Amino acid sequence: MTSDMKTILVTGGAGYIGSHAVLALKQAGYQVVILDNLVYGHRDLVETVLKTDLIEGSTLDKNLLKDIFSRYNISAVMHFSAYAYVGESVTNPSKYYENNVVGTLSLLDAMVEADIKNFVFSSTCATYGVPQAMPITEAHPQSPINPYGATKLMVERILIDYDKAYDFRSVCFRYFNAAGAHPNGLLGEDHNPETHLIPLVLQTALGKRESISIFGTDYPTPDGTCIRDYIHVCDLADAHILGLEYLLQGGQSAIFNLGNDSGFSVREVIDAAVRITQKTIPVVAVERRPGDPPALVGGSDRARSILGWNPQYADIDTILTHAWAWHQTRHS
Ligand code: UFG
Repeated sequence: MTSDMKTILVTGGAGYIGSHAVLALKQAGYQVVILDNLVYGHRDLVETVLKTDLIEGSTLDKNLLKDIFSRYNISAVMHFSAYAYVGESVTNPSKYYENNVVGTLSLLDAMVEADIKNFVFSSTCATYGVPQAMPITEAHPQSPINPYGATKLMVERILIDYDKAYDFRSVCFRYFNAAGAHPNGLLGEDHNPETHLIPLVLQTALGKRESISIFGTDYPTPDGTCIRDYIHVCDLADAHILGLEYLLQGGQSAIFNLGNDSGFSVREVIDAAVRITQKTIPVVAVERRPGDPPALVGGSDRARSILGWNPQYADIDTILTHAWAWHQTRHS
């Protein structure tokens, strides 16, 4: 390690988006320490691909945080760790408020105490709720319709107050639908249980599932299925590096949407997957899934103009091609 190499603490660095950010940080010349409770994260990926320090533990553990901040000379924290199953957040909100809000508060307080005041936060388009206008800009009112989105909005609110009180600076990224996998084929999406559309479609293509269910075909969209804005996980990771550098160069606290400014319906995603995989993907139309807005498409001009963010893998075929390569190796 060279003396001018900055060290970044990445919570949730063994998870899907966090692991891609860790690799991007290392490639950009940062030293990385991961804190992950490994409830959903993957130790094997940290050991074989990321090859960085992994501390197994929780952001709720104040003594552990204190210890990390005294052992490492941390310049900034990227905070990915959170529970993110929308449906579960409705049936078990306590788990979500405890981990996503109380856990984050514990992390923020440990940072303030250690005088570390640069924070990159994973927020979500789920903070907007059902959109009143599209594309959704950062100025759109926030009115989450599930506890998961509410926990992320609460942290955004806490960050505004911490900035005022403690000069604590943050970049909040409101992701649209994270998708795809690293083009190196070594990192990708591996949730258990899996609830997301693209991995489920690809598992069906692999024959691991009998069919893919389309949740609702009577939405007010051109083909009746929900529209989402899919953003490649490596483009998300790149935005995190830019957001970090913005903060380290003295930028003020800021909030950015991260999406591709264009949407694809569930049927379009499945059709693209058939094209890419060259497999038969049986489809079953079922009832709507409660809490799904008909369409969510972001406007990400602010990230482009202020951070100079320029997504490299914007088209759905590339996103699916990378995801397919990953699924074939991970699930073979
Ligand atoms: N869908 C299906 N069948 C499936 C799974 C999903 O039709 O088996 C549909 C959903 O109804 C939705 C679309 O595919 O219309 C995408 O669903 P995902 O579950 O992949 O993603 P979501 O849009 O529900 O969730 C994502 C993030 C959440 C975030 C949310 C914000 O994963 O973390 O966006 O709306 F909160």
